[in-house]
Amino acid sequence: MIQKKYFTTPIYYVNDVPHIGHAYCTLATDTLARYWRNKIGPDNVKFLTGTDENSQKTVDAAAKHGKEIYAYLDEMAENWKTTWEQCGLQFDDFIRTTEGRHHDKVAEMFQRIYDKGDIYKGSYKGLYCTGCETFYKESELVDGNCPDHKKPPMELEEENYFFRLSKYEKPLLEYYQKNPEFLVPESRKNEILSFIQSGLEDISVSRETAEFGISLPMDEKHKVYVWFDALINYLSALPDGENNEFWKDADVTHIVGKDITRFHCVIWPAMLMSAGIKLPDQVFGHGYFTVDGTKMSKSLGNVVNPLDLSKKFGNDALRSGLLSSFTFGSDGDFSVERFHDFYDSRLAGGIGNLFNRVIVLINKFLDGNKPEIQRPRNYTGRSGSAEEFVDFQLHEGLFVNLESYQLYSAYNHLFELVDKANELMNETEVWKLVKEDEEKAKIVFGELLAYLEVIMLISCTLLPETAGKMQQMLGDEKKAGKAQILFPQVDRTVVEEKETPRSTVKFTVNPKLIEQGYQVKAALITIPKISKKQSKPFRAHATEVLGNLDIDAALNAEIIQVANKSYADAEVDGKHPAVHLLEILKKSGKLPNINNVVDAYNLASVDYQISFGVHDIEKIDGDVKLDFTTGSEDYTPLGSKEKVKVNKDEYAFMDGSQILCRMDCKQCEKTKITMQTKHILIYAQGNSAVDALYLENGLDEAIENLVEYCGGGHVERVI
Ligand code: MSP
Repeated sequence: MIQKKYFTTPIYYVNDVPHIGHAYCTLATDTLARYWRNKIGPDNVKFLTGTDENSQKTVDAAAKHGKEIYAYLDEMAENWKTTWEQCGLQFDDFIRTTEGRHHDKVAEMFQRIYDKGDIYKGSYKGLYCTGCETFYKESELVDGNCPDHKKPPMELEEENYFFRLSKYEKPLLEYYQKNPEFLVPESRKNEILSFIQSGLEDISVSRETAEFGISLPMDEKHKVYVWFDALINYLSALPDGENNEFWKDADVTHIVGKDITRFHCVIWPAMLMSAGIKLPDQVFGHGYFTVDGTKMSKSLGNVVNPLDLSKKFGNDALRSGLLSSFTFGSDGDFSVERFHDFYDSRLAGGIGNLFNRVIVLINKFLDGNKPEIQRPRNYTGRSGSAEEFVDFQLHEGLFVNLESYQLYSAYNHLFELVDKANELMNETEVWKLVKEDEEKAKIVFGELLAYLEVIMLISCTLLPETAGKMQQMLGDEKKAGKAQILFPQVDRTVVEEKETPRSTVKFTVNPKLIEQGYQVKAALITIPKISKKQSKPFRAHATEVLGNLDIDAALNAEIIQVANKSYADAEVDGKHPAVHLLEILKKSGKLPNINNVVDAYNLASVDYQISFGVHDIEKIDGDVKLDFTTGSEDYTPLGSKEKVKVNKDEYAFMDGSQILCRMDCKQCEKTKITMQTKHILIYAQGNSAVDALYLENGLDEAIENLVEYCGGGHVERVI
C-alpha cells in the first residue's frame, strides 16, 4: 500500500494575533509536508491547520471589540488563514471549530465515550484560569497565580461531566512502552511519563456556565470543555473521520508546542482509546521562542508579527530564519537584529551572492554555455561521480534530517554547501582563472554547478519560493539562464524605524517608605502617535469595564481611604486622581476624553482605584526615586506656572531636579504628556491597603490598554 502522511498543527486561539511562535510551528509542519509531498506524491500527504473558536475568550474578545460574535469570529479566522497564505504556507485544509462538520463529530465522539461509560456526572470545585482554559491544583500555582498568565485563577464550582482519565493510566503507560517513538523528543516523553506515573485524575469535560460552544448531546445545558472539543478537530476535518484513509491508513503526526503536549499525549490518546479509535503515530513537542530574552506577550508589546518579516524580507527568509535558529525541540530566542544579520550573511551574502556570481561569470565568459557538472574538488566525503555527489548530498541534507524532524540541521547542511561553494570560488579565483585558462576554469564552473544543482534541489523544500528562481538561473541542460538577485538588500533603518532609541530610567524606592506600605510598579512604553480621538474598540471596551464597576464601592475603596488619610496627615490639599475621575463618572456617566493615552490609563485607574504617574521620559532628568522630601525641592504642579513649596517629610516621586508627583495626587507640569510625546514612563502607586500583585495587575491593565488601543510597544518593566 502507498504510504500516506497526515500532518497537523495545533488549532490557534482565534482571538490572538498570529506571532512568530505560531508561525514557527506552522512553518515547521509545512516544511515536513512539502518534503513528504515531494517524496511520496502530493495526493498522499495532508496538512491541516485551523482555528480554535469555542472558548469563553472569544466571547469576551468579541464584546471587547463591540462586535457580534460570529462576525468577529469570521474576521479573525480569515485573518489567520490569510496570514498563513501570505506567508507561503501550503495547507490542504483549514478547520474552524465553529463549523458544522466539527460540531457533528464532537457530539458523536462525546456520545460514544459516554455510551462506553467513560463520562459521568459529578460536581466540581476548582481553580480555573480562563487564559489557559485549564483547572489548576493549588500546588501548581506560583504565588497564588497561574504560572503562565501570572494572574490568580478564579474559583469555580459547578456541576460537570467527567471523563474517566484515571481508567487510562495503565493503558497509556503500556502504549508508551510499546511505542517508544510516540512522543518525541525524548525529554518531553520523560516529562509526560512522569506526569502519568504520578497518577491521573478524572477530568471535567463540560461547562455549565459557558455561554458559547458545543452542547452535550445528552444535556443541552452544558457545553463541551474547549480542549475536549478542540482535540477532535484532527478527526472532524477528515470526511468520515477515523475511517478516512488519512487516519486509518496514514502515519498521523501532530506537531505541537511543549505547553500543550500534555493535552495531546495524555488526554487525546485516552479519548481515542475510549472511543476505540487508532491513536496518532507521533506527536512532536517543539520548544518556545522568546523575543530579546523575554516571553512574547501582548501586554509586553513585544509580539513579532510574521507578516511584517515576510513583507520586509520575503517568505523564504521568514521560514529559514525561524527554522534554522535552534534545534527543533529546544527553546530559542529571536531578535530583529540577529534576524537581519542572518538575512545578510546566509541569504543575501551567502546563497544569493553565490548564485549571482556563478551565473554572471558563466554568461559573461562562456557565453552562457554550461560546462559539464563535476564532483567538487574540495568535497572530502564519499567518492563517486558528480551525480552521485548530488544524490548523496540531497540524501544527507534532506532525507536524513527531515525524516527525523531535524529542521535546524537540514538548513545548516544547506548553508554548509553554500559555504563550501563560495570557498571553492575564492580558492580558485575562478573570475581570474577564466581569463587565463578557460579549460581549467570550465572544470571549476562544473564543480560549482554541482553545488548549485544540489542547493536548488534542497531549496525546493527549504526555500520553496527561491528554488523556482534558482531553477530559472540554472537554465536548461546546456545554457545558463539570466542572473537574478535572489535576496535583495534590506535597509536596516527601515526595519528598525519602530525602535527609536529611548533612554531608560532607573527607579528606586526608599526602604523606609516600603516599610510604611508604599509601593510602586513601573514600566516604560513607546507610543507611535498620540491621538485626541478615542477609537471605537476602546469605547466598547470602556463601556464594558465601566458597566461592571460599582462606583460607590470604588469611591470607598480602602486604597483611597488610606491615601486620603495620608494627605490629611501631611496637611496637603490633595485629591486622589481616581476619586476625581470617579466623581466625574458618577455625575456624567462618562470619563473625560483627553487623548487616547490618558484615557487608556484613566480607565485602568478607576477600575483599580490606582493613581498612575505618567511622564514623558525625554523630559525626565536622570533616574527616578520615591523618597521623603526635604522641603527644598522644585515643584510646579500640573496646570500651573507657579512653583509651589512642599513640606519636609512628605513623600514624592522625584528626578534629579524636581518633584514629578507630589504624594500620589498631583503630577508636575514639566514632564506631562503632550501630543508630541513618544516615550512614556508609567507607574502605579500603591499604599498599605493593597498588595504588590494588585498593583501589578492594575499596571498590566493600563499597559494592555495602551498596547491594544494606542499601538504601544517596546514595553520594559523598570520596577
Ligand atoms: N488552541 C490551543 C491548541 C488546541 S490544539 C487541539 C492553543 N492555541 S495557541 O494559539 O495558544 O497556541 C498554539 C500553538 O502555538 C501551541 O503549539 C503553542 O505552543 C505555540 N506557541 C505559542 N507561543 C509560542 C512561542 N512563543 N514559541 C513557539 N511556539 C509557541 O494552545
